[in-house]
Amino acid sequence: MVVNFYRPVEVFFGEGAALKVGEVARRFGFKAMIVTGRESAKKSGAIDKVISSLSSHGVREYVIFDEVVPNPTDTIVNRGAEIAVREKVDMIIGLGGGSALDVAKAISIVSSNEGSAWDYVKYPEGPRLIPYLNRPVVCIPTTAGTGSEVNRYSVITNEMRKEKLVISHSLNYPKVALIDPTLTYTMPPDLTAITGFDALTHALESLTNKIDNFMAEEYAVRAVQIIAEWLPVAVEEPENKEARRWMSYAAMLAGVAIDHMGVALIHAMEHPVSAHYPEVAHGEGLAILAPYVTEFNLKGNPEKYALFARLMGYEEKPEKAVDALIDLLERIGLLKTLKDVGVEEEKLDRLTEDVYMLSRHTFTVNPVEPTLEDVRELYQRAYEGRI
Ligand SMILES: [Fe+2]
Repeated sequence: MVVNFYRPVEVFFGEGAALKVGEVARRFGFKAMIVTGRESAKKSGAIDKVISSLSSHGVREYVIFDEVVPNPTDTIVNRGAEIAVREKVDMIIGLGGGSALDVAKAISIVSSNEGSAWDYVKYPEGPRLIPYLNRPVVCIPTTAGTGSEVNRYSVITNEMRKEKLVISHSLNYPKVALIDPTLTYTMPPDLTAITGFDALTHALESLTNKIDNFMAEEYAVRAVQIIAEWLPVAVEEPENKEARRWMSYAAMLAGVAIDHMGVALIHAMEHPVSAHYPEVAHGEGLAILAPYVTEFNLKGNPEKYALFARLMGYEEKPEKAVDALIDLLERIGLLKTLKDVGVEEEKLDRLTEDVYMLSRHTFTVNPVEPTLEDVRELYQRAYEGRI
């Protein structure tokens, strides 16, 4: 068996890593664009730290693009790209949760090539355009979940089409990731739970889907172990620095795992939910769907699900994987239904169609290849809470 393992992202990990930004950015030029959300990086003081590190290392010019929102849109990316071109920035610094990092990476592609953000997202038939240039990107995550700081993906929503798709290209890697657990200390318990569960789903789906890569699987295995042990602690004791450190680490490991092995039906079914209901957070949608999709998938890869159960601290039996998920979700406050988060029952047909139109390429790598009736039934059960 021949496997591929490609790691083009330089990682600095540890308390204080964000303070390296000036030294790192200086390699790429003199003018930076800082891509961030509207509030949290300012409130936590992270943005001040970044700016003072930049200026003390000679990167004295910067533009702040603070229009990123959760489930970010192609319009936001296009606007950011226009500014990057107009302001002739040398590099892009993504500071924030997964949305800010995904937007920073996408701005790098769109500002350096023709076309607009939606030309680069991957429909099942492929993207409309292939990029051939980028700008250097430095990613500084302030949550622990997405893993975007170490992989080639940007998830973007088209508001008009109500579609959520992924830019996936080797030019979409950041050059450097500065993973500083201290930036996650101010995350409230609900955001800790939601983002941490995203990381767990990355590990679970990459481990159990039909793409095998024994090197990348090591990352998924370790991520599951760490998250099982430390996510509940991080949720229950937000000030626990050891828990924060482990969660930042696990999110990175899981981000590497999906970079090589991808995700599967849980993600494929979540994206239409948060595309139609942008107020639903990605990790919250995953949490709702994960137990049902996992139960459906068990027979497709019983060994790996048994392994997952063991890594979660349960008996090594495939069906225990579902118990492990439900118990964890209950403990971190994410055991919900689609109905609870405002999804309308009459929308379930449309969500099912969207899974087919936008993500059917995941069907063949999912442990069990689903029919559209299977997908519709899984949505129905997740809507009613019928496990
Ligand atoms: Fe995800």
